[in-house]
Amino acid sequence: MLVAALALTGCAATNYGDEQLKLRVATAGKDIMWMPSKIDIVHKMLDAAQVQPSDIVYDLGSGDGIIPIEAAKKYGARAVGIEYNADLVALSQRNAQRAGLQEGRVSFKQGDVFVEDFSEATVVTLYMGESINARLMPKLLKMRPGTRVVSNTFRIESWIPDQELKSASGDVAFLWTVPAPIEGRWDFSGIPDARAVTLQISQKKQFFNADIDFDGKRVARIDDGVIAGTQMSFEFTHANKRYSLRGQVQGSRFSGRLNDDPRLPVSGVLRL
Ligand SMILES: C[S@@+](CC[C@H](N)C(=O)[O-])C[C@H]1O[C@@H](n2cnc3c(N)ncnc32)[C@H](O)[C@@H]1O
Repeated sequence: MLVAALALTGCAATNYGDEQLKLRVATAGKDIMWMPSKIDIVHKMLDAAQVQPSDIVYDLGSGDGIIPIEAAKKYGARAVGIEYNADLVALSQRNAQRAGLQEGRVSFKQGDVFVEDFSEATVVTLYMGESINARLMPKLLKMRPGTRVVSNTFRIESWIPDQELKSASGDVAFLWTVPAPIEGRWDFSGIPDARAVTLQISQKKQFFNADIDFDGKRVARIDDGVIAGTQMSFEFTHANKRYSLRGQVQGSRFSGRLNDDPRLPVSGVLRL
């Protein structure tokens, strides 16, 4: 990790912090040491997550506060940093004041990311290392569907990113969108050619496969269904006809249209 820190910053001797707290890269943290994200990759990450003033951005392991401060200052979001090191929390608060941000627009909480609640976030940012990301993954996947997760440098285990980002200075980051849980049996109505259409969905994060029955008879299998946040889309062929469905999942309900035709609305209900 130290090697990674030195390589990432390219300058281990650089001093950070302020008059009250002199910081050096690789200052010890709880589960991972402190290393600062560079500003250009921070902007790439927040741009890719399409952060808006309506968003609530949580940076897990927020260090000197750079990500929450930028999220609030440049994108107008409400932002929260969770940081274990109390000295870094105090430094972040001073940095936020120096950036002219109102208390409430950005805040910092001393705590452990494995204990603190961040479920209200609509965007989660990370620069925490692979094993920490892997430990956080189950909690991240249970967040509200559509929540964006962006990680500087490190992937999240087997979760395939939606986007890979690269900054001008060569840093990389990854973006994911929390998928709605859709595993189970769905009953669809509105699809012509059958009274009852059933999908038995098996979900792997933002991807799914499914067996499709028309009136109780297996007619097709989907191997490349996608659930991007709350948007579900899949295609299949039956009797030489192409069916393409796209729509929104809300809880256990789907509403969308067939073949992008507004005259062909389709609805679905998750039964099991
Ligand atoms: C690599 S630094 C990233 C800092 C900041 N997010 C950034 O991008 O510049 C990781 C930070 O996580 C903090 N940290 C490590 N383990 C933590 C934990 N379990 N809970 C909260 N913070 C933690 C460290 O103190 C350090 O400040």
